[in-house]
Amino acid sequence: MAQSGESPGESGPFAAFSAVPLRLRIARTYSPPPMSASADRSSSLFYSRRHLLGIEGLTAQEIDGLIDLSDSYVEQNRRADKKDSLLHGRTVINLFFETSTRTRTSFELAAKRLGADVVNMSVATSAIKKGETLLDTAATLNAMRPDVIVVRHPDSGAVNLLSQKVDCAVINGGDGSHEHPTQALLDALTIRRRRGSLAGLLVAICGDIRHSRVARSNIHLLTTMGAHVRVIAPPTLLAPGIDRMGVEVFTDMRKGLKGCDIVMMLRLQTERMQGSYVPSIREYFHFFGLDYEKLANAKPDALIMHPGPMNRGVEIDSEVADDIDRSLIREQVEMGVAVRMACLDVLTRSLRPNAGAA
Ligand code: NCD
Repeated sequence: MAQSGESPGESGPFAAFSAVPLRLRIARTYSPPPMSASADRSSSLFYSRRHLLGIEGLTAQEIDGLIDLSDSYVEQNRRADKKDSLLHGRTVINLFFETSTRTRTSFELAAKRLGADVVNMSVATSAIKKGETLLDTAATLNAMRPDVIVVRHPDSGAVNLLSQKVDCAVINGGDGSHEHPTQALLDALTIRRRRGSLAGLLVAICGDIRHSRVARSNIHLLTTMGAHVRVIAPPTLLAPGIDRMGVEVFTDMRKGLKGCDIVMMLRLQTERMQGSYVPSIREYFHFFGLDYEKLANAKPDALIMHPGPMNRGVEIDSEVADDIDRSLIREQVEMGVAVRMACLDVLTRSLRPNAGAA
């Protein structure tokens, strides 16, 4: 049930902005103790859906199964020879209507390490006419008989729509401010390898909640897996209805961080903002940027995460981001490849006669 850590929007330095209309390092290589690799690569009984469009609606068993399988791919990615032939002869298309560095590269590496043929299509956002073009593109790509399409699109819901028009599996690589399921899965894998379990952890998600698909997917995943989630943001950057997602809401960073195990920072998504949501970058950093002084409110061993790309000096202090004892930011990127291999694996099992597809 939604609880309120404090009432957002009534006081504090950003109070005046609540009236804005609503519209829309890691230097050391960490080797965790071996997890109970309950992932049985030959069984996909835990996931029988055709697509991965979001975390919302997935069961704890499905999420656990995906994380277990991802964990089993981490070791493969640390070998000198990282490649196998599970997806030999399969075609994966990365269809990105928005800029991306790590997500697109990560999906490409994941597909190649599994032996698939990969085609990368980047479409400049400004050049597309939404809707019609999307469906035309879907029909065109479908005719080329791909096995998986990974789609990133600036509009919430666009990936879902596309999935209804093609015969292959679709993975949501991030749609508008809606969902980014593989980011939440990689965050969960990163946390679980460090802490052993997600259940019972207190996780703070801080910053531009309103425009963040990462926040939404993480809230769904973490609450489903028994973690307690706090969102911390200025009132202007809290999403409407966020308090109904089973999270505690804070507009004061120091109060919100109290006792937290994990501090997840988010980028200000200026590309999705129409108008001014923060008084100034300087003031934003002063009240909501993660520095050691604010971090001192969290547990002494609290870990720091960020999906990237980071804006140093805006939402996170450079030293904190590079703290080899606290920051998991580079580890998150590593886990991303393993998670995407697991997703490609499960979604193509129906194409492999002996893969134990559900
Ligand atoms: C995130 C995204 O695109 O939603 N980045 C990512 O996938 N690594 C977060 C962001 O862009 O701030």
